[in-house]
Amino acid sequence: MPRPTIERLLDMAQRTPSWCNTQPWRVTLTSGAATRQLAEALSEHQSDAADQPDLPFPVAYRGEYLARRRECGYQLYGAVGIERGDRARSALQGRENFRFFGAPHFALITTERDLGTYGAIDCGGYVSVFLLAAQSLGLAAIPQAAVAAHSPWLRDYFGLPGNRLVVCGISFGFPDQAHPANGFRTGRAPITEVVDWRD
Ligand SMILES: Cc1cc2nc3c(=O)[nH]c(=O)nc-3n(C[C@H](O)[C@H](O)[C@H](O)COP(=O)(O)O)c2cc1C
Repeated sequence: MPRPTIERLLDMAQRTPSWCNTQPWRVTLTSGAATRQLAEALSEHQSDAADQPDLPFPVAYRGEYLARRRECGYQLYGAVGIERGDRARSALQGRENFRFFGAPHFALITTERDLGTYGAIDCGGYVSVFLLAAQSLGLAAIPQAAVAAHSPWLRDYFGLPGNRLVVCGISFGFPDQAHPANGFRTGRAPITEVVDWRD
């Protein structure tokens, strides 16, 4: 992608609000060969590595959360032609995370350790604004917690200091509308399920 387009995207994401305007996010951004080298090294590393996220992953998905998680998984597998229960092909699809789905760019989003949960919330806001900005520019972007499973490895790979905690990655580039994975849309619960009006 042209550098001015990426800079426009980053300028838009930079407008994200944060607690006391601390702006705790930092972005380590790879392009071209650097993305491919990272994908190769990370794919090799993750094949026999235990999860070591800096920010603890969810401990359990239950009830509606489990149902929604399953539904979006089935939608994806249906779109790319993976039968339910085909663990081998599901695992292969999961590994796409580590080749960044073929995207030319990868942004590693980190937060400042001392800013704790609220620093991470601000970084989550940054991720959302980044995604919306990408969409508005006609780009495609995929947020990825999957890479955060390898937080210490990523810190070492990029030579980041110990006070930078990995939040997630974002792979991005121009959209491939013909790809089957882009052939479905996820749903959302109606607002009546999430908003408790008190008039
Ligand atoms: C913080 C965060 C982490 C995510 N991690 C992953 C990931 O590791 N791999 C992946 O394929 N999608 C990941 N997603 C994408 C979600 O699965 C996706 O946003 C959700 O299913 C809703 O679909 P939509 O974005 O198409 O509306 C992540 C999304 C967010 C916000």
